[in-house]
Amino acid sequence: MHRKHIAAVAAGLLVAALAAPSPAAAGPRFTPGAPGVGDPYYPTYGNGGYDVAHYDLDVRYDPATDQLTGRATIRARATQNLSSLNLDLVGLTVDAVKVDGRAATWSRSADHELTIRPRAGLRDGRLFAVEVRYHGVPETFTLPGTPFEAGFMHTDDGAVIAGQPEVAAAWFPVNDHPRDRASYSFAITVPAGLQVICNGLPLGNTTRGGWTTSRWVQLTPMISYLATATIGEFDVKTTWHDGRPTIIAIDSDLPPGFADDAVGRTDEITDFLETKFGPYPFESNGAIVDDHPPLAFALENQTRSIYASGWFAPGVDSFETVVVAHELAHQWFGDLVAVDRWQDIWLNEGFATYAEWLWLEKLGAATPQEIFDDFYSAPLTAPYWDPPPGDPGIDELFDDSVYTRGGMTLHALRVTVGDAAFWRIVRAWVAKNRFATGSTPEFIALAEKISGKQLDGLFDAWLFQPGKPAHPGGSSVAA
Ligand code: ARG
Ligand code: ZN
Repeated sequence: MHRKHIAAVAAGLLVAALAAPSPAAAGPRFTPGAPGVGDPYYPTYGNGGYDVAHYDLDVRYDPATDQLTGRATIRARATQNLSSLNLDLVGLTVDAVKVDGRAATWSRSADHELTIRPRAGLRDGRLFAVEVRYHGVPETFTLPGTPFEAGFMHTDDGAVIAGQPEVAAAWFPVNDHPRDRASYSFAITVPAGLQVICNGLPLGNTTRGGWTTSRWVQLTPMISYLATATIGEFDVKTTWHDGRPTIIAIDSDLPPGFADDAVGRTDEITDFLETKFGPYPFESNGAIVDDHPPLAFALENQTRSIYASGWFAPGVDSFETVVVAHELAHQWFGDLVAVDRWQDIWLNEGFATYAEWLWLEKLGAATPQEIFDDFYSAPLTAPYWDPPPGDPGIDELFDDSVYTRGGMTLHALRVTVGDAAFWRIVRAWVAKNRFATGSTPEFIALAEKISGKQLDGLFDAWLFQPGKPAHPGGSSVAA
């Protein structure tokens, strides 16, 4: 008998012993899953002890009453022996919880947590399904560092579901952190006559008794804040590009042809970004333009970025495509490669801002160097110098500095290491962290490894120190 077999038999005996109902046998220890993933900015976001594979969301929403009724089925794998587990849920009333089809007990805490106790512990490695039935009026949040309302936003003709980092827990129980991504299926029921636009691919609508159910599936895994089921009256146009559908939904209130010269160029801009960042990673593409308050920002919802119509108001400026380049760049930086901690937000916004500069160069408007120098020449009173973007804090998560100084950090890196190394770093960052998360220290380590340069001083000055960093060179502008 081989050693391996002996070990296997021994392990088998051990399992048999553990499974034996004898009170003397020491069973495995089951402990509660942690109520957060340990994000320093948002300690209660996400949860420990399991990994979600799929969310199946069956949600009915009536804009007339703002009432939502939901049934979420969450398929997950235990990553420890779980006596209980938490999901994030804000507001709403839980009506029933089942684990693997059996009623489970649950409790709520004031801060985000729905704690579920299955009848029996869930062993490490086990697949399980949690079904939660719930109802209520969804809450909204404020987009951190901005005056904008975000979350499940009730509008005149339906709802816009968009927010960062807070939105998902307002409409379904969720492991609400970028470290856990999953596939999604949606069955969203709304009064007949309204439309629903979700992420991914449409599976069709059925109407019965005055209500329409719209089914969608997002196959490639997605982070929770990027999920949407935006409800309203839209003109939807589907085209095919590179073997995938591009689904553009424009609020029916808007004049015909609205934003054709902006979101209408989604495929062209995606093709351009692919030449910089590598292949577009998802099975569909598109956009939602919603004309209804309170939506006042744009967000990189996976495969279907959402834009307030104000971005494209005719005559606002001739570079309306720039925000489209920004949100599409987030499909790589934010959606495909996610922040490991919300503190790392500059890795999303800095790259999306840098993509704007690359697109402006493509348009012939200015080079990234010219744009950098223009920003660099402004005094410290300019809105984007402070706070240093590497640790902006929750209240300034989306400060100008996270965007502009974040983008400038990438350009300073490019000038310091040279074009060839810079683009190798960018491609390697995406390749290494696709469908996963990356942090600032990991980015710095990769940049040093690929460039062979010591870059701590550069990144410390640009990301963490107050004031204006030394000019990295590459132009005539003096520090
Ligand atoms: N991630 C979103 C974006 O930049 C956040 C929107 C924040 N809006 C703002 N005005 N700062 O696309
Ligand atoms: Zn952005």
